Amino acid sequence: MSADNGAQEKGVPVTEQYWDDSRLTVLDHPLVQHKISILRSKDTTTKQFRELVRELALFEGYEATRDFPLEPVEVETPLETCTAHRVAGKKVAIVPILRAGLGMVDGLLELVPSARVGHLGMYRDPVTHEPHEYFAKLPPDVESRTCLIVDPMLATGGSAIAAIDYLRKAGVADIRLLVLVACPEGVSAVLEHDPEVRVYACQMDRELNDRAYILPGLGDAGDRIFGTK
Ligand code: URA
Repeated sequence: MSADNGAQEKGVPVTEQYWDDSRLTVLDHPLVQHKISILRSKDTTTKQFRELVRELALFEGYEATRDFPLEPVEVETPLETCTAHRVAGKKVAIVPILRAGLGMVDGLLELVPSARVGHLGMYRDPVTHEPHEYFAKLPPDVESRTCLIVDPMLATGGSAIAAIDYLRKAGVADIRLLVLVACPEGVSAVLEHDPEVRVYACQMDRELNDRAYILPGLGDAGDRIFGTK
C-alpha cells in the first residue's frame, strides 16, 4: 500500500515524495492497527506490551519476506504426490538494535526459525541525540544473508543509519529495516542516506518532538518492553 493511508494527517511534514517510494511499506492490516493502538496506551502493562511487540514483529516479518524466492519441491501427501513450493535457500540474519530491538526478535524467529541473530548496541547521546556504537556481534557469514534490522521506533533515524552503515561495511547487500512506529523525519533520513535499504513500518506517526520522541508515539519502547520505567 502507499504510506499515506498509515500517516496521521495533522501536521505531517513535507516528505510526501517518500509516500510513493517503493522502498517504504507501511502495513495497513486492521489487526496491526488494533494492536498498535493498545501498544500506545500508557495503561498497557509491561507483559502486554512485550507480547504485542513480539506479535507485531511477526506480522511485519510476513511483509518483509514477501518477495523471498520459491523453488518447487515434490511432496507425497497421504493421497498423492504433488508439486509444492518451499523457500529457495534464503538465509536470514535478524539484527536487533539494542536494547529495544530485542523485543522483536522472538516474533521473527517464530517466522524464520533458521535465522541467525546478530546484535548491534547503539545508545543515543541524551544531548546531541547522536548514536554511538558500543557493541557489535554478527554471524560470520552475515554478508551472504538478508539482514532484518529491527528496532521498534524509527525516530531521528540516527541509530538505524549507523546500523545500516555497519552492515554495509560488513558487506551486506540486502538490508531491510523493520520498525513498529516511524515518523516522516526518520523515514526520510534513512531513505536519503541509503539508496537500497527497504523500510517496513506498522504505523507512520506525525512528527518528532524536541527531545526526539515520536508523537503521538508510545513513549520509550525499551523502557516499556523491559519495565524499566
Ligand atoms: N525511541 C523510543 O523508544 N521512543 C521514541 O518515541 C523515540 C525513540
